[in-house]
Amino acid sequence: MTKTLLIGRTLRFSGDPFAAPWTETADVDDRGGVLIDAGRIVAVDNADTLRAAHPDAAVTDHGPRLITAGFVDAHMHYPQTGIIASWGKRLIDWLNGYTFPEEARFADPAHAAQQAGRALDLALAHGTTTLTSYCTIHPGSVDAFFEAAAARDMRVIAGKTCMDRNAPDDLRDTAQSAHDDSKALLERWHGRGRALYAITPRFSPTSTRDQLQALGALWADHPDCLMQTHLSEQTEEVAWVSELFPEARDYLETYERAGLIGPRALFGHAIHLAPREIARLREVGAALVHCPTSNTFIGSGLFDMAARKADGIRVGLATDTGGGSSFSMLRTMAAAYEIGQLAHHPLHPAQLMWLATEGSARALHLGGTIGTLTPGAEADLCVLDLASTPAIAQRAERAEDLWEALFPTIMMGDDRAIAAVYVAGRAVLPRA
Ligand code: GUN
Ligand code: ZN
Repeated sequence: MTKTLLIGRTLRFSGDPFAAPWTETADVDDRGGVLIDAGRIVAVDNADTLRAAHPDAAVTDHGPRLITAGFVDAHMHYPQTGIIASWGKRLIDWLNGYTFPEEARFADPAHAAQQAGRALDLALAHGTTTLTSYCTIHPGSVDAFFEAAAARDMRVIAGKTCMDRNAPDDLRDTAQSAHDDSKALLERWHGRGRALYAITPRFSPTSTRDQLQALGALWADHPDCLMQTHLSEQTEEVAWVSELFPEARDYLETYERAGLIGPRALFGHAIHLAPREIARLREVGAALVHCPTSNTFIGSGLFDMAARKADGIRVGLATDTGGGSSFSMLRTMAAAYEIGQLAHHPLHPAQLMWLATEGSARALHLGGTIGTLTPGAEADLCVLDLASTPAIAQRAERAEDLWEALFPTIMMGDDRAIAAVYVAGRAVLPRA
């Protein structure tokens, strides 16, 4: 197999730009190169150096465009693709009014296959090369997603959403069937090709104690899987959880009592946390996933990124499609920036780019594997055009450094900014 050499401006990180000054962790090469062989990055260096050392490599020159790791969406719901941007409801009414009727349609394998392919293609068109998705209660919805991802050779994480109460009749499983179906699915998919399985109780309000316990037991039997769920997204939801679980001190404890906490746990949203919950999350090394367009769209509240990062908690970034209002991780970074501004903590473009790539990858325990321009990593890459619209181009033209040139694309960019996408080293989106 011939080697491929991509040339352009390269952006890579040597560390977490929240833990050290971003100037020390971000490395920009205006004439950089990424050498790819057999689906992996084998070298990142100056373009001319790589060209001289590998004269046999097939060269693609992206000129002034920015070569970055592909975006990693750490929390989304592929079955909600068709109901994104549904008007006017807060979380619980939004679930009942829009989400559950659409998720019921996934009993039909043909609908599941169509929507899985659509969600993955939309992600790729927006530069996102890894999705971490909830499916529906139907095992077929999980097969459909993993099959569609395998057909595209994409690294994905997903699981069957489990619900045995407070959901419509046709969207409820049981404690036993949730355990048995999830077990069969993770045995079929976890570690197959680029697929990874996440045990997925939707959230405490839609699971009985028995179901949470059954899934905790399953996770104990398969500790290398991830576990994803929702935590403290909206105040009405937190109040409902305290009614449903009077024995628990707080929302997190409803998961803890069932064994659903640990370093491989992913808690979506986590906005309205009590001090005990923050301390416990840090102690066990669980990850949080920030979903900023969802939090403003559904009216949930403001995640405190600066505080959680200062706590030393791993945080990923995500669209939360379709509670989130965009498929784009650029738009998602923009919303994270705006939420940071409301808390007087403007995030630097280096921090935003890191969150959307390596930060999410680390939250998923995939640091070094995806989300990074590092030798040995899988060659999932995105090439950004920093002048994709007249409005962006006229601002970028005045820029004095890469960060000033990149920030207008973060704030105003969309799929038009995605010049190329590589999945496992293969170009899936070249634009003329
Ligand atoms: N909480 C429980 N289910 C969901 C969901 O599908 N989307 C969001 N945003 N929050 C949830
Ligand atoms: Zn969600």
